Formats: sequence, structure tokens, C-alpha cells
Amino acid sequence: MSIAVLIPAAGSGTRFGGEIPKQFLPLAGRPLLLHTVERFLLDENVARVVVAVAEPLLASVKQTPGDRVSFVAGGATRQQSVMRALEAAGEDVEIIAVHDAVRPFFRTSTFAAIVALAREHGAALPAVPLTDTIHMVGDDFTIQQTLDRSVLAAAQTPQVFRAPILRDILDRAMREGIEGTDEVSLAVRYGYTVKVVVGDRTNIKITNAEDMEIAESWLKETAE
Ligand code: CTP
Ligand code: MG
Repeated sequence: MSIAVLIPAAGSGTRFGGEIPKQFLPLAGRPLLLHTVERFLLDENVARVVVAVAEPLLASVKQTPGDRVSFVAGGATRQQSVMRALEAAGEDVEIIAVHDAVRPFFRTSTFAAIVALAREHGAALPAVPLTDTIHMVGDDFTIQQTLDRSVLAAAQTPQVFRAPILRDILDRAMREGIEGTDEVSLAVRYGYTVKVVVGDRTNIKITNAEDMEIAESWLKETAE
């Protein structure tokens, strides 16, 4: 089995703030992005990892021929960055995973379960049941409606697809000018079956500055 992993890492981290985008900040002394990439390289079924970085940074990354990791220029949106990485993924891979650069804590065992489901059904993702009650909030900051939490789940990555399905949904979305915040929303839109694996609560997306503090403290705990 051959798997390609696409890692969009071309965002600017506006919610996180600061000069350097969050994916390049040190976490336990090494760039956050490196933690994420290395975790995928532990899996021998992963033939290739393609990382999309902001165009100006491309000149400063080292591309080693024959290496499993390569870099491409990302785009203005996450979806465009994924599209650019997909173009470099190669035609020979059977399965393609898309994973946020800023989720360094995904479990390799969960990834294997998602891959198995995607092989069988076409597409799969990790998602976690919601524990908070979810309200719809109006522009005037009053609650409009309370949603039924029991039917909702929060999507995580890695989201995994049979390669032709990922190519199809991204092509169609680009042609139609549809921008999704993840790939599964596109797969659902175009009628594909997507299976869910119960995700790990520790697979956080580092979004705000306090998420980095949480990440640091977890790594400290495991080092002790
Ligand atoms: N991403 C990307 N290209 C973009 C925008 C986002 O590759 N044009 C990537 C980010 O680098 C990140 C992932 O998509 O790995 C998830 O996005 P998010 O957490 O929203 O990161 P940012 O877009 O950088 O942050 P913000 O939305 O706060 O600006
Ligand atoms: Mg963003």
C-alpha cells in the first residue's frame, strides 16, 4: 500500500498572532511542523510527505532528491495549498491523507484506522463528539437557537481519501469556486460516503497562543 500525506503549512496564523507563523515556532526546541512531519515518517506505508509552505519561504527549505519529504509553494487559502501539494503527490499513490501542519499530536494508531476505513469506503476522518452545548448566536449577541449536540461532531485531520476521490472533489470545488474549510466538507457536497473514526481529544489544532502552552506542557510531561 502506498500513501501520500499532504500538509498545508502556508497559513499566516492570524489568530495566533506574532511575527513568525505558528507552524515554524519552536515546540520543545524544534519547529512545530517538524514534529508533525516526523510522526508521519514513522509509518513505512507513507511513501511521500508533501508540505505546502508560503512561496517566499520555498527558497530557504532544503529539497533533497529521493527524500520522502518535499516542499511546494502554498496558496492564498488552505484549500489552494492542499491543491498545490496534491499536484506534487504523484500518480502512483493509492491513498492520500491531508493533515494540518499544526496538529502534531495525532496518534499513529488512529491514522492507521482512518486509512483502513478510507480504503474500504473511499473517505474517512477523525471527529470528536461535542461535550459543550452548542448555541447559534445572532449578530446582536443574543442566542437564536440551541442545536442538538448528539448529532454533531468536530472534524479533525488526518482526513484520508482514495486518491481519485480527493482529486475529483478538489477539481470540482476549484472549478465551481467552492472553498471548504476541510476536504471532507467537499466530499460530502459531491455525494461521497465519508466514515468517522472517534478522534483523540489530544489531537488539538494549535490555533491560539494558549494552545502552544498546552502543547509544551504535554511534551514536558512525556519527557519527564
Ligand atoms: N494553511 C495553508 N495555506 C493557507 C492557509 C492555511 O496551508 N493559505 C494551513 C495552515 O498553515 C495550517 C492549516 O492550514 O497548517 C490549518 O489552518 P489554520 O489553523 O487556520 O492556520 P492559519 O490559517 O495559519 O491560522 P489563522 O486562520 O488563524 O490565520
Ligand atoms: Mg486559517
